[in-house]
Formats: sequence, C-alpha cells, structure tokens
Amino acid sequence: MPENRKSTLIVGASRGLGLGLAEALARRGWQVTATQRSPSPGLAALAADGVRVETVDIDDDAAVASLRERLGGEIFDLVFVVAGVATQAHEPLHAVTREVAAQVYLTNAVSPIRFADAFADALRPGGTLALMSSVLGSVSLNEDGGWETYRASKAALNTYARSFEIRHRDAGFGVLVLHPGWVRTEMGGAEADIDVATSVAGLVSVIEGRLGRKGIAYLDYRGETLAW
Ligand SMILES: NC(=O)c1ccc[n+]([C@@H]2O[C@H](COP(=O)([O-])OP(=O)(O)OC[C@H]3O[C@@H](n4cnc5c(N)ncnc54)[C@H](OP(=O)(O)O)[C@@H]3O)[C@@H](O)[C@H]2O)c1
Repeated sequence: MPENRKSTLIVGASRGLGLGLAEALARRGWQVTATQRSPSPGLAALAADGVRVETVDIDDDAAVASLRERLGGEIFDLVFVVAGVATQAHEPLHAVTREVAAQVYLTNAVSPIRFADAFADALRPGGTLALMSSVLGSVSLNEDGGWETYRASKAALNTYARSFEIRHRDAGFGVLVLHPGWVRTEMGGAEADIDVATSVAGLVSVIEGRLGRKGIAYLDYRGETLAW
C-alpha cells in the first residue's frame, strides 16, 4: 500500500449514500473500511475490490465497543457516520408513537455522536469526523415544516456535533456536518433531485478539500455553508 494512501471508516454503508461513498472513496485510492448491519450485496461486491467490510448497529453500544476493539490501533483520516432513518417521517409528531419518535432521535442524533466519541482517538491529526445530517436539520431554514421527527433528530445531531467539536477542540481533527442534497435512495425516494453518484462526488470533493482543517462546518454536497 502506498504510504500516503488515506484511510476511512464509513458507517452505514450497506446501501444508498454510504455504499456510494465507500465505492467513490475506494475508486479515488482510499483504503476503505465500510460497515453494514446485515449482509449487504453491494458491499460484498466492493469487498472483491479490496474494501474491508465490518458489521455494526450504531444503536448497540456493545457492538460499537466490539468494532472499536476489532479495529484496534488503526488510525483513520476520515470517520464518516452516514447511518440514519426516516421512520414515518411524513407524519407530524402527534401522529407517531413516542417509541417511534424516540427511536428516530436515538438513531439519528444520539448514536452517531456516541460512535464519534468511541472513535475520536482513532482519527489522525488533520483528519475529519463527518456526520451525515440534512438541510432539514437547520432550525433557521425551516420555512416549510414537515418531516417533524426527522428534522428534530437532525437538528439535535447538529447541536450535539457542535458540542462534540468543542469537547475535542484540542484534538487534531475537524468536524463536518454534511447535507448530501435530496438524493434518489430508499430514503430520498424516486422523485429526489440528484442521483447517488452526483451527491457522493460532491461530498468527496468537499471532504478532501477540507482535510487538515480544524473547527466545525455545516456544508452541503456543493460546499455551500448552511445556516444552523
Ligand atoms: N437521501 C436523501 O435525500 C438524504 C437527504 C439528507 C440526508 N440524508 C441522510 O443521509 C444518510 C443516508 O441516507 P440514504 O438516503 O442513503 O438512506 P438509506 O438508503 O435508507 O440508507 C440508510 C443506511 O443507514 C443504515 N442504518 C440505519 N440505521 C442503522 C443503524 N442503527 N446502525 C447502522 N446502520 C444503520 C442502513 O442500514 P440497513 O441497510 O441495515 O438498514 C443503510 O445503510 C442518512 O443519515 C440520511 O438521513 C439523506
């Protein structure tokens, strides 16, 4: 392996944007470790091209700890938590059960930050901790309403991300809170604006352009800054 080859851990890569990112980064020469919750045909195909596949459910603290142990002293230039859910996202808060609202919050806000804390010491100085948020996580840009539990979970993720960055400010890595665009995946649906290839090409270019920078930024896949 060339010494300057960058390495990444992509979390939630069984399909959709995570799978697309794993593929795009591997194509650009990154050493990629990508996670699934259960066997993913997409990742199995990438494994044949040298992508290492691991299994973890980010809602399961013991599984995250076990992955951390398996990956041992490995150091990454990029840890990207992509995993997320949009369960009954079209229903207003009062129309979903408390359990659904709580689970969306746990998976989209609590688990990514707990994962980030578990792997903060696995980031190379100058590296990046990236979190897949959404423009829907912006409180100030919420002019249309809708997607209530999802919006709230991503707004909470953004808030946790800012506190996470403050807690780790003395470490050598930066934090990126990213919006991939409205993308044609199972979550985004067939009517979405852009395809996975367009979104991940933009995200990879934003991430590569910011390696070595500290602090926190909330950016879309074109590199535009979003209001919190
Ligand atoms: N698509 C869009 O337009 C859009 C826009 C803004 C933000 N986003 C965000 O982008 C991210 C990826 O979305 P997507 O469109 O690619 O969605 P997707 O096609 O539904 O894929 C979701 C991914 O997250 C994984 N995942 C869900 N819960 C998990 C958990 N507890 N532990 C580990 N992995 C878990 C899924 O794994 P399984 O296969 O095991 O379910 C799958 O790999 C999400 O955070 C989403 O909120 C998407």
